[in-house]
Amino acid sequence: MFENEKRMAAMEALKFVRNDMRIGIGTGSTAYYFIEGLSELVKNGLRITGIPTSKKSEELCRSFNIPVDYNIKDIDIDFDGADEFDPYGNLIKGGGGALVREKIVAYNSREFYVLVDHSKYSERLHKFPLPVEVLPFMSEKTLENIERLGCRASFRDDKKFISDNGNYIIDCVFSYTDPELESQIKMIPGVVEVGIFRHLATKIFQGTIDGCRIID
Ligand code: 5RP
Repeated sequence: MFENEKRMAAMEALKFVRNDMRIGIGTGSTAYYFIEGLSELVKNGLRITGIPTSKKSEELCRSFNIPVDYNIKDIDIDFDGADEFDPYGNLIKGGGGALVREKIVAYNSREFYVLVDHSKYSERLHKFPLPVEVLPFMSEKTLENIERLGCRASFRDDKKFISDNGNYIIDCVFSYTDPELESQIKMIPGVVEVGIFRHLATKIFQGTIDGCRIID
């Protein structure tokens, strides 16, 4: 859906990539367009090192001959998609189940550029169920503890979905996903990471039919 908007956002963001940059490479259908465009630039001589945020994106990078290295301390810019964003730059991520690596890379990048289509915008985060990655150990109890914070929660694909880190994802439906919930959920034992990305985005690239709006 909204493929052209996703492509436009990716193409605009690619203009910020320079030689010798170390860049975070996101996960999902919008990130795919970024990876595809990046592969063309690499083919034409651009030198970059990529830090992919999932096994899937790593495979894609390797198939496109984009250099990959995880032993990088300084990441210049991370480029990734999002499932929802608000006017304050808070995000919900993890629809593809890659939130743990996505958050580590975003947190450790000097800049974090988010690539989205128009459907991802909300005045208040409420549209997309909040993904939470949890350890399998006593995960039913972890789910109950999350629900106590006021949501309906369920294991993604009845526990058949296993993250790149060997964990389950619990999807949580809140009437409003208050960004403050990030720290409250993270305090629950068994929770590995929460798909709320608070104040991490530095620019949001929102694709339009024939261009892209950059929100700083
Ligand atoms: C994966 C993510 C993705 O960035 C998010 O799901 C957006 O994906 P898409 O670009 O396909 O809409 O957080 O874990």
